[in-house]
Amino acid sequence: MSVKSRRSLLLASGALLAVAAVAVPVVVGTASADPASANQPRIVGGDKASLSDHPYAVYLTDSGGNQFCGAVIVSSTAVATAAHCAKAVAKQDVRVVAGREDKRTDVGQVLGVSKVWIGKGYSDPTQGDDIAVLTVRGQLDYRPAQLPKSGDTAAYREGTQATVLGWGRIADGGDRSDYLRSAQVPVVSDNTCRSDYSVYDQKTMVCAGYEKGGIDACQGDSGGPLVVGDTLIGIVSFGDGCGKPGKPGVYTRVSTYTADIEAQAKPRVFG
Ligand code: ARG
Repeated sequence: MSVKSRRSLLLASGALLAVAAVAVPVVVGTASADPASANQPRIVGGDKASLSDHPYAVYLTDSGGNQFCGAVIVSSTAVATAAHCAKAVAKQDVRVVAGREDKRTDVGQVLGVSKVWIGKGYSDPTQGDDIAVLTVRGQLDYRPAQLPKSGDTAAYREGTQATVLGWGRIADGGDRSDYLRSAQVPVVSDNTCRSDYSVYDQKTMVCAGYEKGGIDACQGDSGGPLVVGDTLIGIVSFGDGCGKPGKPGVYTRVSTYTADIEAQAKPRVFG
């Protein structure tokens, strides 16, 4: 495929995802002995995860309570998510759900949003800057994730095992996960990711996943955290399918935005 047609494919899928951000985190497996499903990514991997290990993992719903993206607590008053998530639903209709592993329960907190900051220069996930910070109404009762140092490179070394978390769909067009799920994915080098994705920008993005595919985030996981320990290194942004060979997940590179996130996360008094 030409670079140009690959690019338009990515742009088209990015635009589609930005509009239809409606799913859950997924660990997908491609391998299947069943010929009928051989070409379809199947969510077979990943595990149920616990908020006691990752209390900063939260999700976003619309006013009808439908989960459409993930997010991550960065202070007692703010969560970070993807810009394409923040733009998918009007501010007054977005709810942040914290402390709830199982969507079918009503434990934890549901908070509205008073302010939305979108990464400067954001237009489409494939163009980078796919980051937003939502200021909540009230206080989040759960521990925030740590931010990497501004411009940090150590946490992004190739092969670093990271954890992606979310409530995305269990299969393409299939059921959503009721529970928080997680998967382990290694950080991919800039050179490899550049050859996997012509739109890759090492300043604003980072890739994680296996060149063989099989384990990945998927639709509905967008906006959710990629962490190393408790440090937030990435935000789920986009990918070509889910778990496809040679197509790792693309995440927003959080260390590029540390200062912006901190400025937004600080509780502020408006005059
Ligand atoms: N853009 C998707 C969403 O809105 C996330 C896609 C992540 N894809 C991947 N293969 N890692 O939920």
